Amino acid sequence: MTKVIVFGSINMDLVTRTPRLPVAGETLQGTEFFTASGGKGANQAVAAARLGIPTQLVGRLGGDDFGRQLLAGLQASGVQIDGVLVDEATSSGVAIITVDGAGENTIVIIAGANGRIDEADIDRLKSRLAGTAALLMQFEIPLSMVHSAALAARQAGVPVILDPAPVQDIPVELYPLVDIITPNQLEASQLVGFPVDGIEAAQRASAILRQRGVGTAIVKLGDRGVFCATTEETFFVPAFPVEAVDTVAAGDAFDGALAVALAEGLPLQQAVMWGAAAGALSATKAGAQPSLPDRKIFDAFLKERGLDMQY
Ligand SMILES: Nc1ncnc2c1ncn2[C@@H]1O[C@H](COP(=O)(O)OP(=O)(O)OP(=O)(O)O)[C@@H](O)[C@H]1O
Ligand SMILES: [Mg+2]
Repeated sequence: MTKVIVFGSINMDLVTRTPRLPVAGETLQGTEFFTASGGKGANQAVAAARLGIPTQLVGRLGGDDFGRQLLAGLQASGVQIDGVLVDEATSSGVAIITVDGAGENTIVIIAGANGRIDEADIDRLKSRLAGTAALLMQFEIPLSMVHSAALAARQAGVPVILDPAPVQDIPVELYPLVDIITPNQLEASQLVGFPVDGIEAAQRASAILRQRGVGTAIVKLGDRGVFCATTEETFFVPAFPVEAVDTVAAGDAFDGALAVALAEGLPLQQAVMWGAAAGALSATKAGAQPSLPDRKIFDAFLKERGLDMQY
């Protein structure tokens, strides 16, 4: 059976709420604290696994309690974790997030084990590539390893989907190894050097990304929808109207669902629609991983919107 592999980061988010953000040297009483499983790699793996496709995550955790909790959470979501290495020499990746009463935040990210991903992880990835419908990656692990993984996938004939987040300059030699790139508006703006704030700009941006060598460029436009450009066609999929609560991980939901749809053999237009549906559903629930829909909720949504007959 075809499967999806995600090669990427795994983080524990440590979230603190305070009336206002502290200044340097200040000790402040906060109002709330909670932990939440995150990391773009883990989020996208959970997004795919919940939709019912066999999904393997290749990455690293530290030899700490966060690592053990994260691993258990991934497993509970149906992600296959035998490709995750526990690196006893370091800490798990964490994001220390402080949110004030107005919703302003500060975030400190410690890459921990994610930052130590190296050739050993590429070997674990390579040994799993056979029978893989898509390799999904992001930029929370070393860029050189994303490049090595893309090369390995190309050699194995496995399509590469890259979410260039958090955005950084992409080396010219990486673009041609990417089959589908999925930036959001801000990431697209940074990659092409002009504001991508609507469909027309997304069209120009995707043409540039395609000229640099990617096969298909998909620009995620938040509550407006998704623009997509391939060799054969360009099209726009409007966002599904929903009551949005919090759009955290909407993009991760999109990427996971896109990969699942392609693994199930759906044409690209429908796969993009699946991504948009998963993104919309995740916007209706708070949090990152808790907001990612399972297959039952997903199918019910497609049915409710009259889209279930199309596949
Ligand atoms: N408020 C919303 N209502 C309906 N659909 C939405 C909404 N927000 C996002 N989506 C859908 O999800 C897709 C991805 O969302 P978005 O563009 O916000 O990605 P993102 O910025 O990468 O998100 P993140 O990085 O926080 O996971 C959008 O293209 C859209 O189809
Ligand atoms: Mg994103």
